[in-house]
Parts: sequence; structure tokens; C-alpha cells
Amino acid sequence: MLSSNEYNKEKSNNGSETYIIRKDVPLAPLTTLRVGGSARFFTDARSNEEVISALSYARKRGVGVAVLGRGSNLLVPDEGVDGLVIHLAIPGVELVEEGDKTFLVAGAGVAWNSVVDTATSVNLWGIENLAGIPSSVGAAPVQNIGAYGAELANVFAWAEAVDKKTGEIVRINKSDVSFGYRQSTFKQESKWVVVRVALRLSKIGEPNFAYKDLSGVNERDIPLKTPKEISHAVRKIRASKMPLANIGSSGSFFKNPVLSTEKYEALQERFPELPGFETPKGIKVPLAWVLDNVLGLKGFTFGRVRLHEKQPLVLTTLPGATSADVDACVREVFVRVKEATGIEVERETETFFAK
Ligand code: EPU
Repeated sequence: MLSSNEYNKEKSNNGSETYIIRKDVPLAPLTTLRVGGSARFFTDARSNEEVISALSYARKRGVGVAVLGRGSNLLVPDEGVDGLVIHLAIPGVELVEEGDKTFLVAGAGVAWNSVVDTATSVNLWGIENLAGIPSSVGAAPVQNIGAYGAELANVFAWAEAVDKKTGEIVRINKSDVSFGYRQSTFKQESKWVVVRVALRLSKIGEPNFAYKDLSGVNERDIPLKTPKEISHAVRKIRASKMPLANIGSSGSFFKNPVLSTEKYEALQERFPELPGFETPKGIKVPLAWVLDNVLGLKGFTFGRVRLHEKQPLVLTTLPGATSADVDACVREVFVRVKEATGIEVERETETFFAK
């Protein structure tokens, strides 16, 4: 009988691959929120073959699978994950020229920020506004990461993925995927494990200064001309709002609500300063503004959880916090926002389950 922290090695189906499945692995240290329980089974997958082997292991055991990247957008329940957590660690970044097109192809385990550096250091445009997002490459299209008026969907070319049911490697093109606000077919259908992502970048580009924060830097300081300069400016703006790296947080915990024009105008009558940005789906309202100016919740502390003093959309965990503490604080925020404005808040951070 194996004790809970012993290693258990098993052969995969065809006998040619070995993978290491660990048991009862604490997940809190592998997420940026730093709360929650353990994974019943856990494996690091460094190649397509290891992903396929891991999926076959889960099928044989009859357990669900949850995919972990850099853990920056996940809330792990205190009871843990009753299934197999596949931690994607597939490496590799290359630039591929096809005629006049340039693609950046990277393994799912690569840090998103290193990909931004690879692109901007050779003057490629397309992802400079997404600098500083603590994602992995594999999670980027799943979550359709976005910031400062740019989103992953704009540069997504294709992904290589493993079909969770059949274990087959498939190529998913842009036309097979629909993307929304922190949403994608990858997330909605949860059919595939993304193992590689190709981004279409450009040698010629224009800065995207759609967001005031960024255009402000451009006007105040030395003009931002290159992708590298822009990525540095974005990182600086983010760093000024985000908690320090040693504090548990998952970036924006809540989504910015998108309201109908009628709802927005009704709210604006009551709060004339309420900002609003037109989107194809309606008017996007910065929830941080509501939390700050309507509810005075900057730095709001509820048990062992706090809304960040500099950006209340960002939830932080205090020492000893649990996943239940986070849920309780989130419920409190939902109730207060609903009472004051009628807005139904949604979470951006995902709760981690094995499916
Ligand atoms: N504001 C306040 N008080 C505050 C903070 C902000 O009134 O304390 C108001 C200001 O009017 C500000 C507005 O809220 O202009 C919006 O705030 P901010 O520019 O900081 O951006 P955000 O809407 O809160 C979103 C994304 C971020 C992304 C930034 C920049 C979501 C859920 N969040 O935040 O993404 O970096 O815009 O594009 O859409 C993330 O997804 O984890 C994330 C950090």
C-alpha cells in the first residue's frame, strides 16, 4: 500500500511511455491565490505523449481531468480536486516565417511573458499590450486573455490540442473557435487540452492606445514607438495597480459587467460620472469604479480576504485564508453591488474542478 505522499509510477497503454502520477498533491502553492486543497492525482506533462498518457490514465481510473497552467486565474476548492490534474509543462518557442507572414509558435507550458519578450525583442507587433499578464501560453486562448484594448483572439492563428476523449492530436484553426470576453470555445466545450499555440504577428504595426492609461504615458513621457517600449509601459502601469508578487491574488477576480444601453443610462442618471465603453454586446462598465465610488470598497477586508487598495477588482488573500473565505467575500461583494446598482457581477477567476 502506498502512503499518501509516495510516488507511484505506472506505464501508459502502449508500454512505450512512462509517466509519473503523484497523489494528494497540494495545489495552493501552484496557484497565485494560494488557497484550496489537494489534487487526488497529479502529473507534469512535458510533451504531447505525456498528455496523451495522462488522459489515458484518467480514463482507465474513471476520473475527471483538470488542466493547470500557471494557476493565475484559478480558485481551488478547499476539498481539493477529485480527479487528475495535468500540469502543462510543454516547452519551446519558435518564430516561423511563411511568405510575408510571421508566426510565433510556443508550447503550452511556456510563460506568456517570455513569449511577449520574444516577440517585442525582434520588433513584432500584436501582443505588446498583453505584457505582464501572468498566464501560460496554453491558457491564453482558453481564457482569451485581454488588456489595454487588445485580446488574444486578435492574434490567434491555430492551436494544437489533444482530444480529451480520443487522445488524438488535432489542429484547431481560428475559424473553428469563437472568442468572447474572457471566453472561448476551448473553455466552453472543454473538449481539448491545448498543447501548442500559434500567434500571427506583424513586422509592421501601429500602437494601440485605445486605453487612457496607456495613451497618457505616451503623451506625458517619451513617445512610445516600438512594441518593446509599449510592453515596458504596460508592465509599469500594471505593476502600479497590482499587489506585490508575494501576496495571494488572481488579478481581476471579477468581470467588468456589460450592460444594455437602457440599464447604463438609468445608472448614469444616479451616478453621472459612471464610465462606460461601447462594445458589440453593450456598454462595459468598470466594476472597479462601482466598487470604489459607489460602494467605497477599496481595501475592503472580509475575513481573511481583501479587495486590493489600489484596484478593488483585484481580490487578495491574507495569511491563513481558505477557498471558503474567498467565496464568502465574493458573495458579499455580489450582494452589495446588486443592492446598490442592480448589476449581477460575474467571476472572471475560474473554480477548479475535474471534468
Ligand atoms: N477605477 C476606480 N477606482 C479604482 C480603480 C479603477 O474608479 O480604484 C476606475 C477608473 O475609472 C478606471 C476604471 O475603473 O479607469 C478601470 O480600471 P482599470 O483601467 O484598472 O481596468 P479594469 O477595467 O479594472 C481591465 C481588465 C484587466 C486589464 C485592464 C486593462 C477585466 C476583468 N480586467 O481591468 O485585466 O489589465 O482592464 O485593460 O476585464 C485580468 O483580467 O486579470 C486583468 C488584470
